[in-house]
Amino acid sequence: MSANKEIKRITTHVLQAMKARGEKIAMLTAYDFSLARILDEAGIDIILVGDSASNVMAGHETTLPITLNQMIYHAAAVVRAVKRALVVVDLPFGSYQGNSKLALESSIRIMKESGAHAVKLEGGAEVGDSVKRILTAGIPVMGHLGLIPQSIYKFGTYTVRAKEEQEAEKLLADALLLEKLGCFGIVLEKIPANLAKRVSEQLEIPTIGIGAGQHADGQVLVLHDMLGLTKDFHPRFLRRYLDLFSTIQGAVQHYIEDVKNKDFPNDKEQY
Ligand code: KIV
Repeated sequence: MSANKEIKRITTHVLQAMKARGEKIAMLTAYDFSLARILDEAGIDIILVGDSASNVMAGHETTLPITLNQMIYHAAAVVRAVKRALVVVDLPFGSYQGNSKLALESSIRIMKESGAHAVKLEGGAEVGDSVKRILTAGIPVMGHLGLIPQSIYKFGTYTVRAKEEQEAEKLLADALLLEKLGCFGIVLEKIPANLAKRVSEQLEIPTIGIGAGQHADGQVLVLHDMLGLTKDFHPRFLRRYLDLFSTIQGAVQHYIEDVKNKDFPNDKEQY
């Protein structure tokens, strides 16, 4: 057997097959080369270059300020690291809403300049024309329903969405529409678990939940949250796998001590 075992890439068709056989899909965000490489070698299925980069990389309060050029910069770094995962890139605020021509142009720039494999956008029927037009260029599109952070000023809070029947019915109709238009998957953010179950059962394409319970076809978390690099964000759905804030802070304090005590560098650490 060859030592260089060929890596089978995750495609939108692979994801569809995973749903069909009941295999859950694991997705995380990443925004840079080093962490994307770790995720890819660990076997993550989808890497989302999320516009949450606006929060966790740039320190903005919302996802609105990040630009298309900045998203492309992050996406290109991630793509350079990835050999297996599907890389999906968020269309940032202002790069697709209300203008399907702009949506297509923005998506083409992302694909051409970063080498990513798909784009994601937020909303249902309102962005239907954009979804259709992007798909005409052969660019795979992922939807995003429920809590849609680019519309935070419309809703005013980051609380659970679609708890009322009318909003739940609209979300279900939007999900069915996005599937009909040709989306290959839909992120469901912060909605009741029983609604995510209904949506996931009615769709053939996979749903990826964040705060949407165990019945979604896959799960996504923001990498910086699940690694504990952020420390002031404690929603119920977030499972922290590490406390990297404390670990890194401890290492940095140790380094400072070593430098101040003239312990670093030692004899073996110099030329
Ligand atoms: O930008 C992002 O990180 C996202 C996830 C929360 C799904 O859209």
